[in-house]
Amino acid sequence: MRVALLYSRIRVEERLLLEELARRGIEHEAVDVRSAVWDLDEAQAWSRFDVALERCVSQTQAVTAVRMLESFGIPCVNPSRVIETCGDKLATSVELARAGVPTPRVRVAVEPESALAAIEEMGYPVVLKPTVGSWGRLLARVNDRDSAEAILEHKSTLGSVQHGVFYIQEYIDKPGRDLRVFMVGNDAICGIVRRSEHWITNTARGGQASALAVTREIASVCRDASRAVGGGVLAIDLLECPRRGLLVSEVNHTMEFRNSIEPTGVNIPGRIIDHVLAAGRRRPGAMIEARPTAETAFDILSGRGAA
Ligand SMILES: Nc1ncnc2c1ncn2[C@@H]1O[C@H](COP(=O)(O)OP(=O)(O)O)[C@@H](O)[C@H]1O
Ligand SMILES: [Mg+2]
Repeated sequence: MRVALLYSRIRVEERLLLEELARRGIEHEAVDVRSAVWDLDEAQAWSRFDVALERCVSQTQAVTAVRMLESFGIPCVNPSRVIETCGDKLATSVELARAGVPTPRVRVAVEPESALAAIEEMGYPVVLKPTVGSWGRLLARVNDRDSAEAILEHKSTLGSVQHGVFYIQEYIDKPGRDLRVFMVGNDAICGIVRRSEHWITNTARGGQASALAVTREIASVCRDASRAVGGGVLAIDLLECPRRGLLVSEVNHTMEFRNSIEPTGVNIPGRIIDHVLAAGRRRPGAMIEARPTAETAFDILSGRGAA
């Protein structure tokens, strides 16, 4: 088994994943996608890999590399379809809604005037989000018409073309925290609570992580959310709505987990590598190696897993 770890920057997470591969004696290479050149007619150049784990910071770089490797028949964690859905909040909302997964109400508009009408109709406060982005960047809680008009004008005048899509979400009056659950295949392996004084609770913005007891209900909602976007290695963000209960806010496809290992006590990189190896073993034509772990043996026998 030879694993490619696709990266654009070696963060703590990538280092932990590489260490996990090395510790198990699994052949692997870290592939810097920034210097890669993909030739559609050169599958051979990549045929040494049985499976790829995508860990790029950039969504565009991730999906480019994964699409190419998939075209050469190499399974990728996560598949390009999953990256495309999770990397775009509107695409995620569409899939969650289609699958009947509870999620905050969303309106979308492509002109500031129609966006304002949608916001007024939804009622204040609302949250405006770029459809592509992370770490809580450029999120705006809009409390009244004055700020709605100002933000919409700023976005349409100063924003890049990406900000021409106005993704409007109802504000959920959550109890000073949100929940993040790590899914590996069908398993909710652990979760954290992210608390903050600020309404944006990302740990990248100072939110404090502590362990979450993953209840059956939480695991069930997250399993549904994971299936809705195509499954794989995912982090599901949940908001606790006082009226509607658990709502899936977003699904992350190349999640950071450095702040979650210690509070949960779960070897998150280890579980990710188990999943990657199982995907590699399922590759058409792959030899099933001796001594799979109990979990991967189950995955293989049941045909369960990444894709
Ligand atoms: N509709 C909402 N109501 C209340 N809080 C929200 C809402 N949307 C996002 N948040 C808060 O902002 C954080 C970041 O939002 P999210 O949509 O996950 O964006 P990002 O992709 O930048 O992480 C969430 O973890 C949550 O704390
Ligand atoms: Mg988030």
